[in-house]
Amino acid sequence: MDPKTPEYVKKVVMDAAGMVSIRLCAIGNELGLFADLASKGPATSDELAGRLGLNERYIREWIYAMSAAGYLEFDKQSRKATLPDALIPVLVEEGGPLYQGGLFKMFTGLMQPFNELVKAFREGGGISYDTYDGIFWEGLESNSCVRYKNFLVSQWLPEMPDVQAKLEQGASFADFGCGAGRSTVELAKAFPNAKFFGFDLFAPNIEKARANAKEAGVEDRVDFRVHDISKGVPDKFDIVATFDLIHDMADPKGGLRALRQAVKDDGIYVLMDVACEDDPADNQGPMAVFKYGASLHFCMTTSLGQGGMGLGTVGLPEVRVKEFCKEAGFSSVRRLPIEHPLNVLYEIRP
Ligand SMILES: C[S@@+](CC[C@H](N)C(=O)[O-])C[C@H]1O[C@@H](n2cnc3c(N)ncnc32)[C@H](O)[C@@H]1O
Repeated sequence: MDPKTPEYVKKVVMDAAGMVSIRLCAIGNELGLFADLASKGPATSDELAGRLGLNERYIREWIYAMSAAGYLEFDKQSRKATLPDALIPVLVEEGGPLYQGGLFKMFTGLMQPFNELVKAFREGGGISYDTYDGIFWEGLESNSCVRYKNFLVSQWLPEMPDVQAKLEQGASFADFGCGAGRSTVELAKAFPNAKFFGFDLFAPNIEKARANAKEAGVEDRVDFRVHDISKGVPDKFDIVATFDLIHDMADPKGGLRALRQAVKDDGIYVLMDVACEDDPADNQGPMAVFKYGASLHFCMTTSLGQGGMGLGTVGLPEVRVKEFCKEAGFSSVRRLPIEHPLNVLYEIRP
């Protein structure tokens, strides 16, 4: 036997344990188990099940599993489980800068269409957006929301003083591929003089975006509409933005040409996409596994499902952003000096 083989066996066991942990964390979030332990303190399985009206036998097994996985501390004397304080920002404080709960839902949802994906490996083609149910879209929204609430206005916009000045002066702003509208809503909250528009081709996202705008009290300044950017642009705007859209598109080059038409000649296009290396083989380590997993289970696959280019999650490195933007008729591309493990931003001029 190759002496390295036992190490690979251990690796498989570790990876399988990680996958199980993600699913059990998704259950913990869905049922409010982590939130209850954080707010009401340590509990036995009886107490936790009683507090939430759940089945004790399932909760007991979940507690043992989560403590074996390192997410809970278990006291053998009192039989109580504790959620460590250090884990509260990661598992419970939804919307906070360290919150990861969206990932549990997102990956649980992403991994549901298994047979469809295997079929696509054999025959090509892909999977359509409506194959993914609510848990995926909720997870995506929750995960994106962390970035928009904590970084977009306070850290990323100050790197684009012209965009900031235009918004302060009452610019029109269009967010294409807006999803549940979290980026648009955060900007609308911060810039009361500006007028905001959000477009997405997937109707359930627009419904959710409208509800989010209403909840934030900005519905009078945010207009969300179902629109497919590949069918052309609805108007011209002072500022146009795409947040994690271009790599997902069936026709990213056509999308960028349309976006060029949507930006006024003295306007600015803000492009946020996924941080990645020019050579796909240079994307390495856990973040790369995460990005390629999202790519195969959604980004590349939904694009191919529409007969598209299938760039994939890490298919839009800086070199390609510059090439595609030049072809689309933009004159300059400036990468912002921000450090974020998932995203990069560019300020692009017509
Ligand atoms: C990865 S999601 C990002 C959503 C949102 N911007 C965010 O950051 O949470 C990509 C979004 O682009 C939308 N989309 C894909 N192709 C589109 C197109 N041609 N026109 C408009 N929206 C599109 C999808 O429906 C999806 O909501």
